[in-house]
Amino acid sequence: MEQLGLGLIGTGRIAHSHLRALADYLPARVNSVFDVLPDRAEAFAQQFSIPSVSPSLEDLLARTDIDAVIVATPPFAHAQPTIAALEAGKHVLCEKPFSLSVPEAEQMVATAERTGRFLAVCSARYRHADGARRAHELVAAGELGTIYHARSSAFRLRGRPGIDMFTDATWFIDKTRAGGGALIDIGVYQIDLLLWMLGNPHVTSVLATGFQGIGDPPPAGVVQTVEDHAVVMIRCDNGASAVLEIAWSSNITDNNAFLVFGTEAGLRLNPLRKVTVSPDRKPVEERLLPEEGPESRGFGRVTTGFVDDILAGRQPWTSGRDALEVTRVIDAAYRSIATGRAVEIASIPRLAESLER
Ligand SMILES: NC(=O)c1ccc[n+]([C@@H]2O[C@H](COP(=O)([O-])OP(=O)(O)OC[C@H]3O[C@@H](n4cnc5c(N)ncnc54)[C@H](O)[C@@H]3O)[C@@H](O)[C@H]2O)c1
Repeated sequence: MEQLGLGLIGTGRIAHSHLRALADYLPARVNSVFDVLPDRAEAFAQQFSIPSVSPSLEDLLARTDIDAVIVATPPFAHAQPTIAALEAGKHVLCEKPFSLSVPEAEQMVATAERTGRFLAVCSARYRHADGARRAHELVAAGELGTIYHARSSAFRLRGRPGIDMFTDATWFIDKTRAGGGALIDIGVYQIDLLLWMLGNPHVTSVLATGFQGIGDPPPAGVVQTVEDHAVVMIRCDNGASAVLEIAWSSNITDNNAFLVFGTEAGLRLNPLRKVTVSPDRKPVEERLLPEEGPESRGFGRVTTGFVDDILAGRQPWTSGRDALEVTRVIDAAYRSIATGRAVEIASIPRLAESLER
């Protein structure tokens, strides 16, 4: 296979980002699109010169010029097209968050493993940034010693989708359709990155808090049933821990940080710096990469990386198994928020060697 034939399911906001990433990208060609809103799909196909609009999901999946699909629908519509596509023999890149529930995520992973197709999830978006990749290389090479902790703090000032932006997409603030608020919507990227830096261990327990009510209330007729802010503490079976502070609405600036704690050295991302201690116990900070601009953040690489990996026959980031682990953490965090207690997560079997990256 020299060129990957792609199908696109859902032609909303994020679909534009995928198509911009694929513009002039010769290894892939989008051959058809489908959306439950046919007019939207038609306009999208015209804008990006896509040769066909499929009248149904089944029609799109029956096409022989489609090897893989991108599922770019809202969270409540991820599982069904993903499973149908895998059953039809297509590889799948599914938008984040992976799914609304653990059983749904398990079914998606089980289908990929049974059909032998690759399943990847866009929560890997931040792994593709130059700084994150280099940081992970240093971690994997053992340059930081043993990694025992990682921390992510990511705060938006006013960035609630459905209220402060994307005001047409009120599904973002509806728990039944989005699965939750800031934690599942944008925290999913950070949990993916935290666990990746820790070596993708199994998470054994989660303690979390949530808060809603920062900023103007939603417009009349719209009800917000999800959190604006969450704090999650994670304990892993390899002895490591992680802390996530995430908010899509806050009254805080300039305090975003991603930190990796090793016994020999630490890392701070964006810009990537390695921190050690001199013999006279002074901090030594070594700048490894410049400040990340849009290019080095690599937003579109989740799309082109998927294409490259499928053509090379290897599992793209984030695998369905890793996404299932992230889903378990998020599910446990919401249960912890609801009960006020730490939630234990039962161990899960590891993935077959052949599908691991
Ligand atoms: N908007 C962003 O900045 C952004 C960024 C990263 C990831 N995402 C993720 O991408 C996904 C989509 O978000 P969006 O912002 O593009 O939403 P959107 O509401 O702009 O677009 C979603 C599209 O999916 C279509 N759709 C709904 N159900 C469908 C189904 N069953 N089959 C086919 N089409 C269906 C809708 O008609 C709509 O055109 C979400 O999971 C979101 O979390 C969004």
